[in-house]
Amino acid sequence: RLIPEIRIVEVGPRDGLQSIHEAIPTEIKIELIQRLRRAGLQSIELTSVVSPRRVPQLADCQQVLADPAIRELLLITTNDGGQLQPGLRLPVLTPNLKGLEVALSHGVKEVAVFVSATEGFSRANINCTVEQGIEKARSVAKKATNSGVAVRGYVSCIFMDPYDGPTKPSSVLYCVQELLKMGCYEVSLGDTTGAGTPAKVATLIRYLEKSGISLNRLAGHFHDTYGQAVANVLQAYLCGIRVFDASVGGLGGCPFAPGAKGNVSTEDIVLMFQNAGIHTGVNLPDLAAIGNWINQQVGGSSSESLRSSYAVD
Ligand code: HMG
Ligand code: MG
Repeated sequence: RLIPEIRIVEVGPRDGLQSIHEAIPTEIKIELIQRLRRAGLQSIELTSVVSPRRVPQLADCQQVLADPAIRELLLITTNDGGQLQPGLRLPVLTPNLKGLEVALSHGVKEVAVFVSATEGFSRANINCTVEQGIEKARSVAKKATNSGVAVRGYVSCIFMDPYDGPTKPSSVLYCVQELLKMGCYEVSLGDTTGAGTPAKVATLIRYLEKSGISLNRLAGHFHDTYGQAVANVLQAYLCGIRVFDASVGGLGGCPFAPGAKGNVSTEDIVLMFQNAGIHTGVNLPDLAAIGNWINQQVGGSSSESLRSSYAVD
């Protein structure tokens, strides 16, 4: 069997759903996770354990985690974070110790912590300063690591903050360094507002690399506000990044970054990579069918995407 040359972290069940207003039944979320897994995705962010008042859509996180089918999957997950290591990973986003406790009680073996490189978004998203956010992430990472749970990190607003404007690259570097120091096996670079373009992506990645960050500890997380997300993924790949966050059907967005669009669509990057002969381990027709189905479930586009019939050589 071919070993995938890139790893896709499917964030549809979390980032994809978190800002959708219509109530989505828990069963649909569970079915989404199961279908993504069957399509070959090995890393799927299941949900987040955050304030239900701030993110009502994911208030059923505990029902998702406690579902027998998800419990079964959690039992076979790995906690040996590593870039292209085989194994199923089902991280859960946890902003604080309260969230971590819930995740641990459900047998989660990987959590994700998140900080912003910028003050405005930090305040809007997690109601504290960047430094306080790093402290909270550190306390989660410490306890998770002591419990044998792998930790992934996110830095938000790598290019632009919706309130403060352009982000200083040195602020991104600082957050990446702090997240790696606290034990994150990988840090995902979040273009929360979708302000990135391939030129900006290349400049930032080269700067981080020159500053001593190994590329195999980084992932790309691109939102598609200005239609640049697929191009940004390709540019990051050409710069040496091998892990990409994506959301089936292109769903997604952060309720605290007004106007930001969905994540890069998983189908689009699988199509791009497979057509270039880069193995992803994901079945494109199955994935395209899931994208069509979930978009219909959440009241979005009901037009069938043609990706399922795209001939990949
Ligand atoms: P806080 O406002 O500082 O106050 O919350 P708190 O800690 O005192 O808690 C406030 C309320 O939340 C309390 O309930 C707590 O019990 C409850 P109340 O007394 O009001 O009824 N609470 C929790 N409930 C469930 N699970 C928890 C939890 N913690 C507290 N873990 C907090 C701070 C971070 C919790 C809050 O501000 C919050 O939940 N914010 C939402 C953050 C969020 O989910 N953002 C979206 C995900 S991040 C993202 O999308 C970016 C990313 O995709 C990368 C990128 O694109 O850049 C990752
Ligand atoms: Mg995001």
